[in-house]
Formats: sequence, C-alpha cells, structure tokens
Amino acid sequence: MNIASVNLIYFSPTGTSKKVVQAIGREIGGHHVKEFDLTPSVYPDLECKHFEDELTIIGVPVYKGRLPLDVLTRLKRIKTQNALVVVVAVYGNREFDDALLELKDLSLELGFTPIAAAAFIGEHSYSTDSKPLAKDRPDEADISKVKQFAKEIAAKIQKIDNAIIEELTVPGNHPYKISPNAPVIAPTTLVENCSLCGVCSDVCPVGVIEVGKMVMTDAEACIWCCACVKACPEDARIFDDPIILDVRTKLASNCKIRKEPEFFI
Ligand SMILES: Cc1cc2nc3c(=O)[nH]c(=O)nc-3n(C[C@H](O)[C@H](O)[C@H](O)COP(=O)(O)O)c2cc1C
Repeated sequence: MNIASVNLIYFSPTGTSKKVVQAIGREIGGHHVKEFDLTPSVYPDLECKHFEDELTIIGVPVYKGRLPLDVLTRLKRIKTQNALVVVVAVYGNREFDDALLELKDLSLELGFTPIAAAAFIGEHSYSTDSKPLAKDRPDEADISKVKQFAKEIAAKIQKIDNAIIEELTVPGNHPYKISPNAPVIAPTTLVENCSLCGVCSDVCPVGVIEVGKMVMTDAEACIWCCACVKACPEDARIFDDPIILDVRTKLASNCKIRKEPEFFI
C-alpha cells in the first residue's frame, strides 16, 4: 500500500508528545508531513479533513492513566473512513494505565483503522530541578527507538494490500480507570519574579490565564498541564500547592526506575 503523506496530530502542553510524534513523522514521512497542533486554546478544526490514503499519527499525554478530557473534545471533530492511524501515548514514567486503549478506541470511533501503537516516556509535567521526574525525556535513547518503531510500521504498511488488518491489541482495561475529582488548584505566580510578559497566557491550552496588572488564573478550569510553569522565562510560575508537592514526592520515590518505550504492532 502506498501512503501519500503523513499527518501528525498532537496535544502537547509541555512539548514531549510533540517531540515523539515529530520524530516518528520524520522517520516515516520524510518531507511529506503535515502537522495539526491541537494544543493552543484556539486549535485547528479537523472537521473537514479526511485523512484517507495518508498515514496519521496521533500523540497525546497520559493524565491520571487516561486521556486528557480536552483531547477528547478536540479529536472528536474528526470523521474519517478506514484511514490508517498510529496512536501514541506519552507518560511521565509512572504508568500509562488505560490511556493507550482509550486512544485506540477513540481512533476506531472516529473511523480510523489503528495499525500500530506505542507508549513513550516524557519528562513529567510536575518535574522540577529538585525533584526530577523522567528529566529530559524523550532523550536520545528514546528517539533512537523511534527508528525501530518506524521500520516496523513501514513493514506492516507494505503488507496491508489485500490483507485483512487484524484488530490491534494494546494494554488497558474496560471499563477505564475512573479519575478522582480534581481539587480546585492551579499554578501561581511569584510577583517578585514576574514581568507580566504574558507567555503563560499565550501557552495555556485552555485559555484560563489573563495578564493585566497582575496574572489571574481561573483555577476551576485549569487542567494542571504545567505549560505555563515550563514556559515562563522568569521562573515566576510555580505549582507548589501542598497536594502537588505530595504527588511530586511520591512520584520521585515510587517511579525512579527508568521505563522504556513499548510498541504494539
Ligand atoms: C494532570 C496530569 C496527570 C498526569 N498523569 C500521569 C499518569 O497517570 N502517569 C504518568 O506516568 N504520567 C502522568 N503525567 C505526566 C505526563 O503524562 C507527562 O509529563 C507527559 O510527558 C506530558 O506530555 P506533554 O509534554 O506532551 O504535555 C501527568 C501529567 C499531568 C499534567
């Protein structure tokens, strides 16, 4: 089967899912790659795209063992018919639980035919210099594994002509894990460091930060993604609510052992 081009669709507040998906795209598609970044609060509408005769790669982070809710809303605009898709979940070295299964199920619901899946590791959104969690991942070793993954995908696509594509099996359970209700907290701003540059507001995927004479965050609608924390050029945005400090400490002690990317083809 011939693939005309490769589409990359990703939601990636702190950039690790984007890095992984772009690396896969480069390996498979070379220069014939189109990108649809669903991260900004004003995101591209994919309703009119169809993706047939192309390979689509969808990459998203794992939040509490599931897909971020905003990813569901943004992806659900797509309607396609049997277009081939590779689904990729990126997680912070704890677990990906049911997220990859949920993404595979969602891709089927949108009309895609999933041919491969992967779980990669990205620096945890809550990682700090003093409590590093999967720091700087995906790293060179992760990206070198992309080559192997891409080879296996290409080999599978070669065989697809006239062959029935068997349903892809990925880890996870039905019903999916239930995420506990999140308390109403959000990153805050250290006034003494902040120059009111507005980067935090620009990068917020859900548009809940307003910068005027001070930085105002609508904590009710914050998704805790930490895009604002990682992007702040003055280290003025911090997420140090006691609940997050506790999570960070537990992750740092329970998830020390390096996990490796896994492929399902
Ligand atoms: C709200 C939230 C929940 C998360 N839950 C998990 C999880 O269940 N397991 C895990 O290993 N990492 C978890 N992470 C870490 C992210 O999956 C990880 O940092 C990922 O690389 C972020 O992707 P991005 O850089 O594309 O935004 C969570 C992060 C956030 C913000």
